[in-house]
Amino acid sequence: MRTPLIAANWKMYKGPQDSLAFLNDFLPQVKDNAASEMALFPSTICLPAVVEATRGSRVAVGAQNMHWLNEGAYTGDTSPAMLTAVGCTHVLIGHSERRQYAGETDAQVNLKLKSALAHGLVPVVCIGEHLDKRQCGLTSAVLRWQIAAAFNGISCEQAHPIVIAYEPVWAIGTGVVATPDQAAEAHSIIRDEVATLLGQGIAQKMRILYGGSVKPDNIAKLMSEPGIDGALVGGASLEARSFAQIIQNATA
Ligand code: PGA
Repeated sequence: MRTPLIAANWKMYKGPQDSLAFLNDFLPQVKDNAASEMALFPSTICLPAVVEATRGSRVAVGAQNMHWLNEGAYTGDTSPAMLTAVGCTHVLIGHSERRQYAGETDAQVNLKLKSALAHGLVPVVCIGEHLDKRQCGLTSAVLRWQIAAAFNGISCEQAHPIVIAYEPVWAIGTGVVATPDQAAEAHSIIRDEVATLLGQGIAQKMRILYGGSVKPDNIAKLMSEPGIDGALVGGASLEARSFAQIIQNATA
C-alpha cells in the first residue's frame, strides 16, 4: 500500500512573510489529515522559516533544487548538507523549469539524485514530455529515457525513498490537465521502466505523483487511478484554502 503524497511547489512565489501567513491559515485546515503525507517546497530563502513554523505538524519541507556537492565555489547554489542542516527532509530534482531555464541535464539530475539519497533526503524526481514529443508518439520513449538516465548507477537498496513526479510539460501552469487516462498510462510506463531497472518489488512500492494544473476539482478523478499516488501542485498550492481542499479531495 503506497501512502499518497500531496506536495506544493511554490516556485519563485512567496517570501518569508507570505509563507508564514499561508501556514497560519493552512496548518489548522490540515491538522487532522492522516490519509496522506504532505510536503511544501518553498523558495530556498524561506526554508528555515517554513521548517520552524511547521515543526510539530505533519507537513514536511523540502527544497526546489540543490547542488550535488557539499561545498565549493558554486555561486548561488545550495548544498544538500545545508538543506539538511536547516531541517529539510525532501528535495525536488529535475523540475522541467530547471531543465528548461537553468539548462539542467539528465546527467546532473542523476548526480543530484545520488547526492540526495546519500544525505537522507527524499528526492522527488520530476520527469515529463513536451507537447511536440507527445504529438509524435514519443511519450513513452521520453519517459523511459529520463528514468533510465536519472536512475543510472542507483541500486535497489538505495532506491526505496525515491518519489517520481510525472509532469507533462504541456500541462504545467497551462490549465490543461492530463486526463486521468493519459496520466494513468504514463504512470504505468514509468512504473514498468522502474521495474525493468530495479525490479517489480521496488516498482510496486515507489510513489509516482502527477503534476500539471492539479486543482481542487480535478484531483479526485486523478487519484481514483490506482497508479497515481499523489500530486505535485504549483499554482493551486499558493492559496491555503485551495491546497487544503486538494489534500482533502485527494483521499475523500
Ligand atoms: P502547476 O505546476 O500546478 O501550476 O501546473 C505544477 C508544477 O510545476 O510542479
